Amino acid sequence: MSQNTFKPVRKAVFPVAGLGTRFLPATKVMPKEMLPINDRPLIQHVFEEAREAGIEEFIFVTGRYKNMLEEHFDFQPELEQTLEERGKVDMLQKVRDSEMPAGKLFLTRQPRPLGLGHAVWCAAKLVGNEPFAIMLPDDIVNYEKGCLSQMIDSYNQYGGNVVAVKDVPREETKKYGILDIGEEKGDAVSINGLVEKPNPEDAPSTLSIIGRYILQPEIFDHLAVFEKGAGNEIQLTDAMAKLLGKQEFHGLRFKGEHFDCGSRLGFIAANLAYGLKDKEIGKGVSALLEQYK
Ligand code: UTP
Repeated sequence: MSQNTFKPVRKAVFPVAGLGTRFLPATKVMPKEMLPINDRPLIQHVFEEAREAGIEEFIFVTGRYKNMLEEHFDFQPELEQTLEERGKVDMLQKVRDSEMPAGKLFLTRQPRPLGLGHAVWCAAKLVGNEPFAIMLPDDIVNYEKGCLSQMIDSYNQYGGNVVAVKDVPREETKKYGILDIGEEKGDAVSINGLVEKPNPEDAPSTLSIIGRYILQPEIFDHLAVFEKGAGNEIQLTDAMAKLLGKQEFHGLRFKGEHFDCGSRLGFIAANLAYGLKDKEIGKGVSALLEQYK
Protein backbone atom coordinates (compact mmCIF):
# COMPACT_ATOMS: atom_id res chain seq x y z
CA MET A 1 0.00 0.00 0.00
CA SER A 2 1.58 3.31 -1.01
CA GLN A 3 1.67 6.12 1.55
CA ASN A 4 1.40 9.70 0.37
CA THR A 5 2.79 12.62 2.31
CA PHE A 6 0.07 14.91 3.54
CA LYS A 7 0.39 17.66 6.12
CA PRO A 8 0.27 15.87 9.51
CA VAL A 9 -2.69 16.08 11.88
CA ARG A 10 -1.14 17.57 15.04
CA LYS A 11 -4.06 19.31 16.72
CA ALA A 12 -7.39 18.11 18.06
CA VAL A 13 -10.39 20.25 18.99
CA PHE A 14 -12.68 19.05 21.79
CA PRO A 15 -15.98 20.96 21.74
CA VAL A 16 -17.24 20.81 25.34
CA ALA A 17 -19.42 23.91 25.65
CA GLY A 18 -22.83 22.25 25.11
CA LEU A 19 -25.60 22.27 27.71
CA GLY A 20 -26.07 18.49 27.98
CA THR A 21 -29.82 18.91 28.40
CA ARG A 22 -30.51 15.19 27.97
CA PHE A 23 -28.81 14.55 31.32
CA LEU A 24 -30.48 17.27 33.36
CA PRO A 25 -30.50 17.75 36.31
CA ALA A 26 -27.17 15.83 36.54
CA THR A 27 -25.60 18.38 34.20
CA LYS A 28 -27.02 21.50 35.83
CA VAL A 29 -23.59 22.32 37.28
CA MET A 30 -21.41 19.37 36.29
CA PRO A 31 -20.30 19.20 32.65
CA LYS A 32 -21.73 16.26 30.71
CA GLU A 33 -18.18 15.50 29.54
CA MET A 34 -17.20 14.79 33.17
CA LEU A 35 -19.70 11.94 33.51
CA PRO A 36 -17.71 8.74 34.03
CA ILE A 37 -17.62 5.62 31.90
CA ASN A 38 -16.28 3.12 34.41
CA ASP A 39 -13.32 4.83 36.12
CA ARG A 40 -12.69 7.82 33.90
CA PRO A 41 -14.72 10.75 32.60
CA LEU A 42 -15.77 10.96 28.97
CA ILE A 43 -13.26 13.74 28.30
CA GLN A 44 -10.41 11.51 29.45
CA HIS A 45 -11.49 8.68 27.16
CA VAL A 46 -11.22 10.98 24.14
CA PHE A 47 -8.03 12.63 25.41
CA GLU A 48 -6.38 9.19 25.65
CA GLU A 49 -7.57 8.30 22.15
CA ALA A 50 -6.07 11.54 20.80
CA ARG A 51 -2.80 11.02 22.66
CA GLU A 52 -2.50 7.49 21.27
CA ALA A 53 -3.04 8.89 17.76
CA GLY A 54 -0.02 11.20 18.20
CA ILE A 55 -1.94 14.46 18.72
CA GLU A 56 0.40 17.16 20.06
CA GLU A 57 -2.00 19.99 20.89
CA PHE A 58 -5.33 19.59 22.70
CA ILE A 59 -7.77 22.44 22.16
CA PHE A 60 -10.81 22.60 24.46
CA VAL A 61 -13.74 24.81 23.47
CA THR A 62 -15.32 25.41 26.87
CA GLY A 63 -18.10 27.58 28.25
CA ARG A 64 -19.86 28.47 31.52
CA TYR A 65 -19.61 25.89 34.32
CA LYS A 66 -16.98 23.94 32.42
CA ASN A 67 -13.80 24.78 34.35
CA MET A 68 -13.76 21.32 35.91
CA LEU A 69 -12.81 19.91 32.50
CA GLU A 70 -9.45 21.67 32.36
CA GLU A 71 -8.83 21.12 36.08
CA HIS A 72 -9.26 17.38 35.63
CA PHE A 73 -5.98 17.31 33.69
CA ASP A 74 -3.97 19.27 36.30
CA PHE A 75 -1.18 17.93 38.50
CA GLN A 76 -2.70 17.15 41.95
CA PRO A 77 0.22 17.24 44.42
CA GLU A 78 -1.75 16.53 47.65
CA LEU A 79 -3.59 13.61 46.10
CA GLU A 80 -0.42 12.12 44.65
CA GLN A 81 1.40 12.49 47.98
CA THR A 82 -1.43 10.77 49.88
CA LEU A 83 -1.55 7.88 47.41
CA GLU A 84 2.23 7.55 47.62
CA GLU A 85 2.15 7.48 51.45
CA ARG A 86 -0.54 4.80 51.36
CA GLY A 87 1.40 2.71 48.85
CA LYS A 88 -1.43 2.86 46.29
CA VAL A 89 0.93 2.51 43.36
CA ASP A 90 -1.63 1.46 40.73
CA MET A 91 -3.98 4.29 41.61
CA LEU A 92 -1.09 6.78 41.58
CA GLN A 93 -0.19 5.61 38.09
CA LYS A 94 -3.78 6.11 36.93
CA VAL A 95 -3.84 9.64 38.36
CA ARG A 96 -0.51 10.52 36.72
CA ASP A 97 -1.76 9.15 33.44
CA SER A 98 -4.60 11.66 33.47
CA GLU A 99 -2.21 14.62 33.57
CA MET A 100 -1.88 16.89 30.55
CA PRO A 101 1.75 17.39 29.45
CA ALA A 102 2.95 20.99 29.99
CA GLY A 103 2.23 23.39 27.16
CA LYS A 104 -0.13 21.05 25.33
CA LEU A 105 -3.56 22.24 26.50
CA PHE A 106 -5.12 25.25 24.79
CA LEU A 107 -8.41 26.79 25.81
CA THR A 108 -10.93 28.91 24.00
CA ARG A 109 -14.49 29.72 24.98
CA GLN A 110 -17.79 29.59 23.23
CA PRO A 111 -19.80 32.30 24.99
CA ARG A 112 -23.16 30.84 23.93
CA PRO A 113 -23.91 27.28 22.83
CA LEU A 114 -24.95 28.19 19.29
CA GLY A 115 -24.18 24.76 17.87
CA LEU A 116 -21.29 22.42 17.13
CA GLY A 117 -20.24 24.35 14.01
CA HIS A 118 -19.98 27.54 16.03
CA ALA A 119 -17.99 25.75 18.77
CA VAL A 120 -15.46 24.54 16.19
CA TRP A 121 -15.23 28.02 14.66
CA CYS A 122 -14.27 29.35 18.12
CA ALA A 123 -11.05 27.30 17.78
CA ALA A 124 -10.11 28.78 14.37
CA LYS A 125 -7.20 30.93 15.59
CA LEU A 126 -5.75 28.10 17.68
CA VAL A 127 -5.92 25.64 14.79
CA GLY A 128 -4.49 28.01 12.17
CA ASN A 129 -3.82 26.84 8.64
CA GLU A 130 -3.43 23.09 9.01
CA PRO A 131 -5.56 19.93 9.03
CA PHE A 132 -6.97 19.08 12.45
CA ALA A 133 -9.11 16.55 14.27
CA ILE A 134 -12.41 17.16 16.04
CA MET A 135 -13.37 14.76 18.80
CA LEU A 136 -16.76 14.77 20.51
CA PRO A 137 -16.52 13.31 24.02
CA ASP A 138 -20.09 12.01 23.60
CA ASP A 139 -18.79 9.35 21.27
CA ILE A 140 -16.49 6.65 22.52
CA VAL A 141 -15.22 3.65 20.58
CA ASN A 142 -14.05 0.48 22.28
CA TYR A 143 -11.22 -1.10 20.29
CA GLU A 144 -7.55 -1.92 20.82
CA LYS A 145 -6.54 0.64 18.18
CA GLY A 146 -8.23 3.97 18.76
CA CYS A 147 -10.71 5.34 16.24
CA LEU A 148 -8.63 8.48 15.60
CA SER A 149 -5.52 6.38 14.95
CA GLN A 150 -7.48 4.39 12.39
CA MET A 151 -8.65 7.63 10.77
CA ILE A 152 -5.12 9.05 10.64
CA ASP A 153 -3.99 5.88 8.82
CA SER A 154 -6.76 6.49 6.30
CA TYR A 155 -5.85 10.20 6.03
CA ASN A 156 -2.21 9.25 5.36
CA GLN A 157 -3.46 7.23 2.42
CA TYR A 158 -6.08 9.56 0.89
CA GLY A 159 -5.49 13.02 2.42
CA GLY A 160 -8.38 15.49 2.30
CA ASN A 161 -11.10 15.20 4.91
CA VAL A 162 -11.99 12.02 6.82
CA VAL A 163 -15.02 11.31 8.99
CA ALA A 164 -15.74 8.19 11.06
CA VAL A 165 -18.89 6.42 9.86
CA LYS A 166 -21.11 3.53 10.85
CA ASP A 167 -24.35 1.97 9.64
CA VAL A 168 -27.49 2.85 11.58
CA PRO A 169 -30.98 1.31 11.33
CA ARG A 170 -32.92 3.10 8.55
CA GLU A 171 -35.72 4.08 10.94
CA GLU A 172 -33.18 6.09 12.98
CA THR A 173 -31.65 8.27 10.22
CA LYS A 174 -33.51 11.29 11.65
CA LYS A 175 -31.12 11.31 14.61
CA TYR A 176 -27.89 11.56 12.58
CA GLY A 177 -25.87 13.21 9.80
CA ILE A 178 -26.25 10.80 6.85
CA LEU A 179 -23.94 10.33 3.86
CA ASP A 180 -24.62 10.22 0.16
CA ILE A 181 -21.86 7.83 -0.87
CA GLY A 182 -19.76 7.11 -3.95
CA GLU A 183 -16.90 4.71 -4.51
CA GLU A 184 -16.04 2.08 -1.85
CA LYS A 185 -12.29 1.63 -1.21
CA GLY A 186 -11.87 -1.09 1.41
CA ASP A 187 -12.94 0.35 4.75
CA ALA A 188 -13.14 3.85 3.23
CA VAL A 189 -15.95 5.26 1.12
CA SER A 190 -15.90 8.48 -0.86
CA ILE A 191 -18.59 10.98 0.09
CA ASN A 192 -20.69 12.85 -2.46
CA GLY A 193 -23.09 14.55 -0.10
CA LEU A 194 -24.21 15.00 3.48
CA VAL A 195 -27.68 15.43 4.89
CA GLU A 196 -28.31 16.40 8.49
CA LYS A 197 -30.99 14.28 10.22
CA PRO A 198 -33.05 13.20 7.17
CA ASN A 199 -36.35 11.31 7.43
CA PRO A 200 -35.85 7.57 6.70
CA GLU A 201 -37.59 7.87 3.31
CA ASP A 202 -35.29 10.74 2.21
CA ALA A 203 -32.02 9.29 3.57
CA PRO A 204 -29.52 8.68 0.72
CA SER A 205 -27.89 5.80 2.69
CA THR A 206 -27.81 4.48 6.25
CA LEU A 207 -24.19 5.48 6.86
CA SER A 208 -23.96 7.96 9.68
CA ILE A 209 -21.18 10.18 10.94
CA ILE A 210 -20.02 9.79 14.53
CA GLY A 211 -18.14 12.46 16.46
CA ARG A 212 -14.70 12.07 14.90
CA TYR A 213 -13.52 14.27 12.05
CA ILE A 214 -10.26 15.15 10.32
CA LEU A 215 -10.86 18.39 8.45
CA GLN A 216 -8.91 20.83 6.34
CA PRO A 217 -8.70 24.43 7.62
CA GLU A 218 -10.87 25.77 4.76
CA ILE A 219 -13.86 24.60 6.83
CA PHE A 220 -13.44 27.79 8.90
CA ASP A 221 -14.31 29.99 5.89
CA HIS A 222 -17.71 28.29 5.74
CA LEU A 223 -18.27 28.23 9.50
CA ALA A 224 -17.55 31.96 9.66
CA VAL A 225 -20.80 32.65 7.78
CA PHE A 226 -22.71 31.64 10.96
CA GLU A 227 -25.58 30.16 8.96
CA LYS A 228 -28.12 28.39 11.14
CA GLY A 229 -29.31 24.91 10.16
CA ALA A 230 -31.21 22.03 11.77
CA GLY A 231 -32.43 22.79 15.30
CA ASN A 232 -31.67 26.48 14.65
CA GLU A 233 -28.00 25.71 15.45
CA ILE A 234 -24.84 26.42 13.45
CA GLN A 235 -24.12 22.91 12.17
CA LEU A 236 -20.69 21.53 11.32
CA THR A 237 -22.20 19.25 8.67
CA ASP A 238 -23.67 22.25 6.78
CA ALA A 239 -20.19 23.78 6.47
CA MET A 240 -18.76 20.41 5.42
CA ALA A 241 -21.46 20.08 2.75
CA LYS A 242 -20.24 23.39 1.23
CA LEU A 243 -16.71 21.99 0.86
CA LEU A 244 -17.89 18.81 -0.88
CA GLY A 245 -16.99 18.88 -4.55
CA LYS A 246 -14.13 21.30 -3.79
CA GLN A 247 -12.19 18.90 -1.55
CA GLU A 248 -11.98 15.12 -1.11
CA PHE A 249 -14.09 13.63 1.69
CA HIS A 250 -13.89 10.03 2.88
CA GLY A 251 -15.88 8.10 5.43
CA LEU A 252 -13.97 5.47 7.37
CA ARG A 253 -15.89 2.41 8.56
CA PHE A 254 -13.89 2.24 11.77
CA LYS A 255 -13.34 -0.94 13.74
CA GLY A 256 -14.74 -1.17 17.27
CA GLU A 257 -17.94 -0.80 19.22
CA HIS A 258 -19.32 2.72 19.28
CA PHE A 259 -21.33 4.21 22.14
CA ASP A 260 -23.34 7.40 21.93
CA CYS A 261 -22.81 8.56 25.49
CA GLY A 262 -24.74 11.78 24.85
CA SER A 263 -27.90 9.70 25.28
CA ARG A 264 -28.77 8.11 28.62
CA LEU A 265 -29.20 4.66 27.13
CA GLY A 266 -25.88 4.81 25.25
CA PHE A 267 -24.22 6.04 28.43
CA ILE A 268 -25.52 3.05 30.41
CA ALA A 269 -24.53 0.66 27.59
CA ALA A 270 -20.98 2.06 27.62
CA ASN A 271 -20.74 1.66 31.39
CA LEU A 272 -21.84 -1.95 31.13
CA ALA A 273 -19.41 -2.73 28.29
CA TYR A 274 -16.42 -1.03 29.96
CA GLY A 275 -17.39 -2.51 33.33
CA LEU A 276 -17.59 -6.02 31.86
CA LYS A 277 -14.10 -5.78 30.38
CA ASP A 278 -12.60 -4.34 33.60
CA LYS A 279 -10.17 -6.78 35.27
CA GLU A 280 -11.30 -5.92 38.80
CA ILE A 281 -15.07 -5.61 38.49
CA GLY A 282 -15.90 -7.48 35.26
CA LYS A 283 -17.18 -10.61 37.00
CA GLY A 284 -19.23 -8.53 39.43
CA VAL A 285 -20.86 -6.59 36.59
CA SER A 286 -21.69 -9.85 34.85
CA ALA A 287 -23.31 -11.16 38.05
CA LEU A 288 -25.31 -7.94 38.37
CA LEU A 289 -26.61 -8.32 34.82
CA GLU A 290 -27.83 -11.83 35.70
CA GLN A 291 -29.45 -10.53 38.86
CA TYR A 292 -31.37 -7.70 37.16
CA LYS A 293 -32.38 -9.36 33.92
P1 UTP B 1 -24.59 17.66 21.59
O1 UTP B 1 -25.19 17.71 20.27
O2 UTP B 1 -24.62 16.36 22.31
O3 UTP B 1 -25.27 18.82 22.48
O4 UTP B 1 -23.07 18.15 21.44
P2 UTP B 1 -25.29 19.09 24.03
O5 UTP B 1 -25.85 20.44 24.17
O6 UTP B 1 -23.96 18.88 24.67
O7 UTP B 1 -26.26 17.97 24.65
P3 UTP B 1 -27.87 17.88 24.63
O8 UTP B 1 -28.23 17.49 23.23
O9 UTP B 1 -28.44 19.18 25.06
O10 UTP B 1 -28.14 16.77 25.61
C1 UTP B 1 -22.00 17.32 21.07
C2 UTP B 1 -20.70 17.93 21.61
O11 UTP B 1 -20.56 19.26 21.12
C3 UTP B 1 -20.43 20.19 22.17
C4 UTP B 1 -21.01 19.48 23.39
O12 UTP B 1 -20.42 19.97 24.60
C5 UTP B 1 -20.69 18.03 23.15
O13 UTP B 1 -19.40 17.67 23.62
N1 UTP B 1 -21.16 21.43 21.82
C6 UTP B 1 -22.43 21.38 21.34
C7 UTP B 1 -20.53 22.64 22.01
O14 UTP B 1 -19.36 22.70 22.44
N2 UTP B 1 -21.22 23.79 21.71
C8 UTP B 1 -22.49 23.77 21.22
O15 UTP B 1 -23.05 24.87 20.96
C9 UTP B 1 -23.11 22.53 21.03
